Amino acid sequence: MLDQPLGLRDLARHYDLAPSVETAEALGGIYQRMSRVVTPMDWAIHAPYVAAINQLKKERNAVILAHNYMTPQIYLGIADFVGDSLQLAVKATEVEADVIVQCGVHFMAETSKILNPAKTVLIPDMDAGCSLAESITPAGVAEMRRRYPGAPVVTYVNTSADVKAVSDICCTSSNAAQIVAALEADTVIMTPDQYLAQNVAKQVPHKRIVWWEGSCIVHEQYTAQDLREFREWNPGTRIIAHPECPPDVVAEADFSGSTKGIIDYVHAEKPEKAMLVTECSMASNIAGELPTVDFVGPCNMCPYMKKITLEKVLHSLHNMTGAVEVDPAIAADARVAVQRMIDMSRRLAA
Ligand code: 13P
Ligand code: SF4
Repeated sequence: MLDQPLGLRDLARHYDLAPSVETAEALGGIYQRMSRVVTPMDWAIHAPYVAAINQLKKERNAVILAHNYMTPQIYLGIADFVGDSLQLAVKATEVEADVIVQCGVHFMAETSKILNPAKTVLIPDMDAGCSLAESITPAGVAEMRRRYPGAPVVTYVNTSADVKAVSDICCTSSNAAQIVAALEADTVIMTPDQYLAQNVAKQVPHKRIVWWEGSCIVHEQYTAQDLREFREWNPGTRIIAHPECPPDVVAEADFSGSTKGIIDYVHAEKPEKAMLVTECSMASNIAGELPTVDFVGPCNMCPYMKKITLEKVLHSLHNMTGAVEVDPAIAADARVAVQRMIDMSRRLAA
């Protein structure tokens, strides 16, 4: 629910937001896609919000870009485009609508704004942060440059615009190893995710990778021991881990990749049982399109991603609040690092 009860009361004056079996049935096509994980009762509560948001998007000429960690009601109910961080950044360069509503965390909205300075980019909750983005400032990057003179700085997109602005190039979990391998330098600084850096170091052994000691509060909780115990208890489970997990966890997994990489892998392999070692909504979002896969095992919730709710999306789009602004000089420098990543990723994939 909205943090501000008054905001919700105000919305109810403009939209019929009472739980409704009729609206739930009218949007039955959308519900079909999430019926494995959302009960009909919950859908009757959420359907009026989905209907209101989808109508309002047309009136505002808005598109919703949603990360793979959004809840099924957002991911399957209102998103125009879903993806991992790289896909969302690339999509942001192609958007024609006047307004982008970023259903994800703040750095994702900032990236969309950096790539689209003329557009209105809304984030439904300004407090949707990220432990990685909070772990480093431009002073941290300067310190790394002092410690390793001449080494290029590869900065994960999970950072603020001012950190991107002082970096040489950005990366995401889907292109980090390729970007580091393609750089000419022998020593590469990776910020701020120590575990992503250590996982990349294993994939690019001929380079010296040094890192900032940030971590993701969701992925650092998994241990290799947990995975071993789970495998013993539930043999035959395919274990798939995000590269923000510690390297011994990734080593224990059958596959590691970005959120898009994980989705593609499960689609291609269709294992009988799959454990996604990542944020909880990932399995829920794809369960409907993979009816033969049993998603098993524990998952961890990202408290930042979960700040984005249907109520807050409607509130933000109705009132046009939560507009993300980036200082133009910082945005210009940050754009260079993000655009270099997009260009290099395209070149390396060609
Ligand atoms: P992806 O780029 O793999 O979607 O990861 C983003 C993220 O925040 C994972 O925690
Ligand atoms: Fe940040 Fe981790 Fe949440 Fe992703 S899952 S947004 S890296 S805290």
